[in-house]
Amino acid sequence: MSKVLYIKANSKPEELSRTFKISNAFVEAYKQFHPEDEVVTLDLYRENIGFLTEKDVLVHSEATDDSRQSIAVKYARQFRDFDKYIFAEPLWNLGVPAILKAYFDYISQVSITFKYSPTGPIGLCRGKKAINITTQGGAHSEDAATAQEHGNSYIKTMLNFFGIEDYKCISASKLDIIGMDVEAIVNKAIEEAKELAKSF
Ligand SMILES: Cc1cc2nc3c(=O)[nH]c(=O)nc-3n(C[C@H](O)[C@H](O)[C@H](O)COP(=O)(O)O)c2cc1C
Repeated sequence: MSKVLYIKANSKPEELSRTFKISNAFVEAYKQFHPEDEVVTLDLYRENIGFLTEKDVLVHSEATDDSRQSIAVKYARQFRDFDKYIFAEPLWNLGVPAILKAYFDYISQVSITFKYSPTGPIGLCRGKKAINITTQGGAHSEDAATAQEHGNSYIKTMLNFFGIEDYKCISASKLDIIGMDVEAIVNKAIEEAKELAKSF
């Protein structure tokens, strides 16, 4: 049995979010194909996520996990205890919503998700896997615009830093460009999501 953490980062109401339409379809299909697995939803806007405090920063670099107590450490331990991760967020101002960056600040903890070594940092979440489901108003995945995109690329880089190499992304773009068939783009992404849910 695998434990799956579904991490949602969007303040838009659930029923209006194109991102959640796709990610919820992925999760529903995943549950059908993997009925024995446990899926836990972490809606960051319903969580106690804030900016790193003085206390959070002071415990951040302590070498052992045992005695550290902070909200950030609690979230890092929770993250570590899962096997698979589903991220769902829109692109905001070329990056992830700030609350998701704050969440990564929480879960990036020495001795929990990574450790230092004489040759540099080593990820402690090896063997786990992740998928990121995202939507964009424009088309940042195309050629010259790729360099501007710091949403999916940021999540992928952070997870690689934790040792997670098995990483996929479903991205529906151009959703705010006038004249685009938004429903068709979203439906295509939903079909891709349902297909990927089989093997995730
Ligand atoms: C605050 C904000 C910032 C945004 N910044 C970008 C952006 O930098 N690039 C882009 O292509 N779309 C941008 N968008 C458009 C969203 O990515 C797009 O509408 C997305 O599909 C919204 O997903 P949702 O329906 O799940 O909320 C932005 C939207 C908002 C609300």
